[in-house]
Amino acid sequence: MAQVSITINGSQVSGSEGMTILEVAQENGIDIPTLCHKAELLPHGACRICVVEVEGSRTLVGSCHTPITQGMVIHTHSPKVLEARKVIVELLLASHPDSCLVCDQANLCELRKIAADLEIGVPRFRLRKRYYPIEDASPYIIRDLSKCVLCRRCIRACREIKKKNVLSMAYRGFNSKVVVNFDEQIDPEVCRDCDVCISFCSTGALRKVKKLGEEKTGKPLIIRG
Ligand code: SF4
Ligand code: SF4
Ligand code: FES
Repeated sequence: MAQVSITINGSQVSGSEGMTILEVAQENGIDIPTLCHKAELLPHGACRICVVEVEGSRTLVGSCHTPITQGMVIHTHSPKVLEARKVIVELLLASHPDSCLVCDQANLCELRKIAADLEIGVPRFRLRKRYYPIEDASPYIIRDLSKCVLCRRCIRACREIKKKNVLSMAYRGFNSKVVVNFDEQIDPEVCRDCDVCISFCSTGALRKVKKLGEEKTGKPLIIRG
């Protein structure tokens, strides 16, 4: 495959034709934060956290879905890029519940890690939280969509990896939400023993129902939380 030469942060590097800016950066040890991107899934470009500056481009570009072109000059951590990333993360945090300290997924939460890396403190934007009741009717999955950042990784993982179409986006703007069918509870039969979407969740919005043992009745002892 033809090689394409580009410059990232002042260093000349190259990648194969068709590679994205993010892939070439990662191959060369340059860390660009991502949230909606997962190497196992098709690029989607939902979160914009991976933006970089490309000389000659009027706007910042999403590195996870922009292919490299010959001679591109890219800046992954310029002041303009860092400020844009901060604004995006701060807006996400402005609608996120203040429960990080007691969230049992906090150590796995990618939003929390990105916010820490960007040294984000008190949000500059008006807080407008989105609260949904926790959905725990399924014996396998607990959904706490107040913590959802709409990265759509669960939807794509269910479709692309599990080859099912259980999840989709519904509603618009601030009310956008990942739903099952017409905003119903998860069908336990469809999702039986599957945790693909949980393993792709970027925050603590999806988690497994823990099964610690068997009761005398022979039924699994379910511990929620
Ligand atoms: S548990 Fe499996 S089938 Fe059900 S929504 Fe998640 S990925 Fe899809
Ligand atoms: S539930 Fe998790 S994986 Fe799905 S869109 Fe929300 S944050 Fe992303
Ligand atoms: S990681 Fe590139 S747009 Fe989300």
